[in-house]
Amino acid sequence: MDVGRGRDRHVGRGAPVRVLVTGAGGQLGCDLLDAFADDEVTGRTHAELDVADEAAVVDAVTGLAPDLVVNAAAWTDVDGCEGDPLRAHAVNALGPWWLARACRLVGATLVTVSTEHVFSGPPPHESDGTPRGWTEFDPVAPANVYGRTKAAGEELVRRTLPEHHIVRTSWVTGARGRNFVTAILGAARTRDHLEVVDDEVGAPTSTRDLSVAIRELAVSGRFGTWHRTGAGTVSRLEQARAIVALAGLDVEVRPISAAELTRPAARPSWSVLDATHATAAGLTPLPHWRDGLVRLLEELGELADPASSSAS
Ligand SMILES: NC(=O)c1ccc[n+]([C@@H]2O[C@H](COP(=O)([O-])OP(=O)(O)OC[C@H]3O[C@@H](n4cnc5c(N)ncnc54)[C@H](OP(=O)(O)O)[C@@H]3O)[C@@H](O)[C@H]2O)c1
Repeated sequence: MDVGRGRDRHVGRGAPVRVLVTGAGGQLGCDLLDAFADDEVTGRTHAELDVADEAAVVDAVTGLAPDLVVNAAAWTDVDGCEGDPLRAHAVNALGPWWLARACRLVGATLVTVSTEHVFSGPPPHESDGTPRGWTEFDPVAPANVYGRTKAAGEELVRRTLPEHHIVRTSWVTGARGRNFVTAILGAARTRDHLEVVDDEVGAPTSTRDLSVAIRELAVSGRFGTWHRTGAGTVSRLEQARAIVALAGLDVEVRPISAAELTRPAARPSWSVLDATHATAAGLTPLPHWRDGLVRLLEELGELADPASSSAS
């Protein structure tokens, strides 16, 4: 047993675990509780545990003494973060750090969820000029406060707790939260046409699928940084058109460019995370984003033709 550690029981392959999920009221947090339902799982919402409060984090983690902490808490309002970098840093950088330090006290493993916003700029290329996704080994280059604070949170965890899994994901959508899918559905019902950017490309990720992938990673004992997103890539425009079509809504979706939107924070134009490292390491690839979208619309009761769920 390492000196200074309460226990040494990091989660190993297939081990049943006592789990603490932070940010349990968020769209990912809710589905994590389901994914870990066969374990001994405790969720803490923002109201129950503020991850930016170091003393509260120590109390919660030492009180529960989990084998595994999964941090789904974050301030995800990208434009809000731009206007309040101090708060963004406290939640997105210090929060994971306090959790990592508390995990060290009880010998727990930490999963913390991060984002493709740690990258920016044009896509990297293969030697033949084909664009490729960002890998775990590409240098981070965030272009907004949200991405900067998430990258800082990653680095603080790496420096603090070897037994960590940093899970970068992108374009997250779940049934219990506000996201691109619910925003498009809402707008499509109140407007005669929608305008959606066609120059932002990424990989939509179902919180159901991501939660299963996070549990697989946590019990694998494979520590480090991992990219875990839905398979396939799509522009925001194509994603919006797929949402509208699958929901059976009759509304035109017109392309615009990101430059036409006035938003406080810059968005990555290329939000594609490469899956090679995870797949080569034996982790199960996530289902295609469209499959996740069909299941999400079904869960929301918004799928126009339920037969399409088996055809996807
Ligand atoms: N959404 C995306 O497209 C996306 C893309 C890539 C990565 N991610 C990452 O995925 C993870 C989950 O995101 P999500 O989509 O599930 O976001 P979400 O629905 O906004 O959930 C985040 C949760 O964290 C809570 N929270 C905020 N500040 C907190 C604090 N100081 N202490 C404890 N909880 C706090 C929020 O509670 P309140 O709402 O009550 O404040 C909310 O319940 C995050 O790490 C995020 O950075 C998200």
